[in-house]
Amino acid sequence: MRHEIETLQHTALQEIEQADSLISLDAIRVKYLGKKGLLTDILKEVSSLSVTEKPLVGQWANAFKDQLTQHIDSRKKTLQRIARDAQLEQEKVDVTLPGSHRSLGTLHPITQVIQTVTAYFSRLGFGISEGPDIETDYYNFEALNIPPHHPSRDMHDTFYLNHGELLRTHTSPVQIRTMTSQAPPIKMIVPGCVYRCDTDITHSPMFHQIEGLVVDSHVTFAQLKGTLEGFLTAFFGDDRLVRFRPSYFPFTEPSTEVDVMCGQCMGKGCASCKQTGWLEILGAGMVHRHVFESVGYDPNTVSGFAFGMGVERLAMLKYGISDIRWLYENDQRFLGGLR
Ligand code: PHE
Repeated sequence: MRHEIETLQHTALQEIEQADSLISLDAIRVKYLGKKGLLTDILKEVSSLSVTEKPLVGQWANAFKDQLTQHIDSRKKTLQRIARDAQLEQEKVDVTLPGSHRSLGTLHPITQVIQTVTAYFSRLGFGISEGPDIETDYYNFEALNIPPHHPSRDMHDTFYLNHGELLRTHTSPVQIRTMTSQAPPIKMIVPGCVYRCDTDITHSPMFHQIEGLVVDSHVTFAQLKGTLEGFLTAFFGDDRLVRFRPSYFPFTEPSTEVDVMCGQCMGKGCASCKQTGWLEILGAGMVHRHVFESVGYDPNTVSGFAFGMGVERLAMLKYGISDIRWLYENDQRFLGGLR
């Protein structure tokens, strides 16, 4: 019996040592210690032995059982560690590799220009206002001294909606909305979307404008000139001269268009300024007395100036963009290049 146990012990320990996977190790456990295992059989036999043999053989068999269990446990730990090491090796991360690059993006050039312009005028004490994109004929045209038959409506063809509403063609209706709801003094700047039936490389059916309005008791044309000259010099740089040309807008009198010296040729004349040396930047003028009358202000006691400029045009001139459509395509290669 002793010999039998010792032989079994020898082969069992050898098998455990050679087990190369947790599965084969478990098979060994079942082979010896399972319900019908070899050692289990021996332990069963012990009960039928004589009183003198029983304790001795029982001891051997139990010692063998303990040893077997211990060896299986320690082999199990070794195999688990080997398996984990192999897995770690496979999933190894090289923390010294450079990370994958994610571009943070930038503010859109239109947003950048709006922020630059509004920040400049905020420093001069202008408030920022907004108005609806969907307007009525009254706010967009009539109250601005543009009656139904007026020829200047031709330049403001737009998208008409039901119930006589339309998509505003300029930010000037916000002048009317503001003046009808508050008394002077007013100093405000109005960024927003505007719409016109117009499309080519410098025009888009939807674009942005920034309107300015100053109304008080003694506002002068000199103040208009000083304000706009100051802004344009800050925006384009003081090497770019600014000039005022007489012009016409139904809601201002006198009216002016303001040009900035072409940055490509510095006034000499080139293709981008159509050989004139100048680029038209904004429209402005002293608020027309009919406009004051339509909002209930007394034109004999208040005066004011207004101006309006195209944001896309400012962006295109500042960044040298030749086609307006680039601004709406959201191409990262284009937007990233403007940083
Ligand atoms: N609203 C005019 C336009 O869109 C621009 C402008 C605004 C002109 C204010 C004068 C004063 O053409």
